[in-house]
Amino acid sequence: MKHTHSLADQRYINEVLALALNQANQAQDPYRPVWHFAPLFGLLNDPNGLAHFNGEYHLFYQWNPKACAHGAKAWGHATSKDLFTWQHQPLALAPTQDYETHGCYSGSGLIVDDTLELFYTGNVKFAEGGRTAYQCRASLEAGKQVEKKGIVLSLPDGYSGHVRDPKVWVHQERYYMVLGAEDLNYQGKVLAFVSDDLENWHWLGEVFGDGLNGYHCDDFMLECPDLFPLENRHVLITCPKNWLERDGKKVETFDVTYHIGDFDYQTAAFNHQDGVLMDHGFDFYAPQTFADQDGRRILFGWMGKPDEYEAYQPSIQHGWVHQMTCPRELTLVNGRLKQNPVMELTHMRQHQQVFKGLSTCFDGLSGELQLHNLQNEELLIEIAEDLRIEVDSKGLRTVRRNLKNHQWQVIEWPGRVNSLQLLRDHSSLEVFINEGEAVATSRFFGKGFGAKADKGFKLSSKHELSAIYWQLVK
Ligand code: FRU
Repeated sequence: MKHTHSLADQRYINEVLALALNQANQAQDPYRPVWHFAPLFGLLNDPNGLAHFNGEYHLFYQWNPKACAHGAKAWGHATSKDLFTWQHQPLALAPTQDYETHGCYSGSGLIVDDTLELFYTGNVKFAEGGRTAYQCRASLEAGKQVEKKGIVLSLPDGYSGHVRDPKVWVHQERYYMVLGAEDLNYQGKVLAFVSDDLENWHWLGEVFGDGLNGYHCDDFMLECPDLFPLENRHVLITCPKNWLERDGKKVETFDVTYHIGDFDYQTAAFNHQDGVLMDHGFDFYAPQTFADQDGRRILFGWMGKPDEYEAYQPSIQHGWVHQMTCPRELTLVNGRLKQNPVMELTHMRQHQQVFKGLSTCFDGLSGELQLHNLQNEELLIEIAEDLRIEVDSKGLRTVRRNLKNHQWQVIEWPGRVNSLQLLRDHSSLEVFINEGEAVATSRFFGKGFGAKADKGFKLSSKHELSAIYWQLVK
């Protein structure tokens, strides 16, 4: 059954258009990124359906075009030739069918012949409470609009209604899908299915979670799994959900971890090493990777988290909230995953400045700062009044004022800092430590934004530093 341009889709699009036409003036918006992808309006979360297809990079994304809040998500769509200039495309998927009443949730893309095949979760909540999830398929042919193909997999036995976020890939002419799930004992699991035709999916097994492959944890759900080959290993990225005590309240965690291991395509067993946290900043969640036409493994992440503070982001006054991270190339070096900005971003470098000394400022709201051969010196990098990076012999700390209560908060990466690469866009900072060994990703807003108090990068140290700076211009 095909569902192209139904009356429901048309109604949805008309409502979105009416909202768009009434948006605040974005020219006055100091937070809007220059070269990161952000929605024109509404709320963006996870990257979806990433692919290099028909000569362009395709970025789909979780989008609520109707409000700066979570809700029944649609899929937005944008394309790029250079990975930093983005062209908005027509709405890809709207939650208009009875198998996706509460959202076209996250999923992935896979090129088969001349088609970009898309897989996503139809999220359905019942009026009497509870929910179910359908894994669905849609297709994009070059020059056409996305066409829904309907359900390919219903809820498997033994799991709650939280089974979602299909990541699909091909291996030796068979298709594989991993899903994030919560089992009936409230344990987070990654499930694998296999198919020969993309339509009929067969159970392969549980890949990852408590009690599997010698691993133990008490995460209650695993969101957005991504399992992919890298070098001669496999990497599994997951977003494990757990509970944390904060100010006497139980709140959900939003971490992202990776495990390196070996995946058995016959049994779904995944023997893996210990997990490593993928980011040490305030805003990184639900990343997704894809292999591009050169075989590079590229990652985009959502530069946000659905925590209790997101409603305080001031870009909401301008009608939009959240942005993507920069695209990052993943490599395996000495058994560790490295994340580095893709080399295309170097094409934005202009007005190089080289500095040697104790302290300086580099002006500009979009720039790149590099520091090499650091020798355990104490170093302070102030980005804006509400964000700074501190480095000493203990490691690197991102220090940011909380958006709600304005208290300073700290996230530490413990380790020896040898080199730093910092990418700043108007309201975001990505810090790459030791050539991508660790990353700290954060948004920032606050007082004096874009005004005199905001210096781009303000650098100070007790020891002589050598730095190199470029403005990033599109
Ligand atoms: C992760 C997530 C996914 C889900 C989507 C809904 O941020 O919760 O698990 O598919 O967002 O927008």
